[in-house]
Parts: sequence; structure tokens; C-alpha cells
Amino acid sequence: IELYLDTADIVQVSRFNKCLPLRGVTTNPSILAKSGEGLSQILPALAETLGSDARFHAQVVSTTINEMVEEAKQLNQLPYDMVVKVPATETGLAAIKIMKKEGITVLATAIYSAQQGFLAALCGADYLAPYVNRIDGMGSDGVGVVADLQLLLDQHALSSKILAASFKNTQQAMEVMKLGIGAITLPVDVAAQMFAHPAVQPAVEQFSQDWHSAFGAKLSFE
Ligand code: E4P
Repeated sequence: IELYLDTADIVQVSRFNKCLPLRGVTTNPSILAKSGEGLSQILPALAETLGSDARFHAQVVSTTINEMVEEAKQLNQLPYDMVVKVPATETGLAAIKIMKKEGITVLATAIYSAQQGFLAALCGADYLAPYVNRIDGMGSDGVGVVADLQLLLDQHALSSKILAASFKNTQQAMEVMKLGIGAITLPVDVAAQMFAHPAVQPAVEQFSQDWHSAFGAKLSFE
């Protein structure tokens, strides 16, 4: 599975790159707006932190087919391994078909149903981003949408990878990872929760206390 962090926060990317095998970083216009920095500032810093083989997902912001394709070409020309995110709307799907003819790597985003994701896969999208928590928040079943979409990809032998997105907790992330999806992007707080079980720290402290009360020193082989 390809593991991404869903953030433009360079401090957090650096933190998690030390302890996790990050494939790269995903952003969207809201994430960049929150960071207050554009791609031209963020990307060089991220590339320096993650290394030259890191992959970056950045979204087009235009709303017409031609402008989306033009933005995708510009993103594709950057000196990084770029994936162009395109909302899987009627306009977006038309743009994706053209982008694929141009050899651009594309992620279809803002996916709220299996059928929407399936159409994006048929149009050639390399990645599909279903929004698990946002679907859950609408009273539907985000994990179920991912399961149906993975089933459709398998049954039709489509090579698109699901890059599951939008998580509020580790349970949602675990459930979609059990489905054998190809990629996932985690927000910083959910990534931190993955190894923050409340029993871990007390267990580690107990080992330390027991050792020090018996030997009073660091590990010794004498
Ligand atoms: C990624 O493609 C999405 O933009 C992102 O994961 C959405 O997450 P949110 O629902 O937490 O905003």
C-alpha cells in the first residue's frame, strides 16, 4: 500500500517521514489555503524533506475542461513526481480523458459513490479518492463505498488504484486497509493516533521502572 500524509505542514511531514515509509504527500486547495502557501513554496520544501522519489498530489482549481487540462500540463511540467487531482465531475471526467491522452498521471478526487469512482476508472484515472469520513458524515457508509469500488475494479480488471481519503479516526482507516486498497492518505492527527494506543506508554514506562529498580543503569551485557 502507498502511504501518504494529507497535509502541507512541512514540520509534520518531516516528523512522520522519520518513522513511516511515506510515499509522498497529498494536498487539496483547502489544505494549501490553510497553510497560506502556494505550491511554488511548498513543493521545493517537501521535496527536500522527502527526497527525489517522493510523489506529490496537487489539485486543479479551474472549472472548464480546457483550463483544467492546461493546469494539469503545468503541474506535470514541474520537476517533481506529480499526480494531478481532478474532481470526478462531468467536466472533470472529460478533462481526465484528455489528460490521459497527454500521458499525465491523474487522481480522480471528490468521490462520494462507487459508481462515480467506477466511471473515473473507466476514463483512465490512475488513482481514485473516495472521501470516507465525508460519506460517513452524510449518513452513508464510506467503507462500504470503498468496498464496492474495489470490487468493481477487481471484477473489471481495471488498473486504477483506490487512494482512500478523508479520515477522522483510525477505525475508518483500518477498515479500508483491510479491503486491500492500493493507497491511503492520512491527516496528521489520524496518523498519530495509529500508534497512540493509551496502553503503550504505561507498558514502556513499566519496563523502564522494573529495569532501573533492579539494575539502576542503562542496558548492560555484563
Ligand atoms: C484528499 O484527496 C482529500 O482532499 C482529503 O482527504 C479530504 O479530507 P477532509 O474530508 O478531511 O477534508
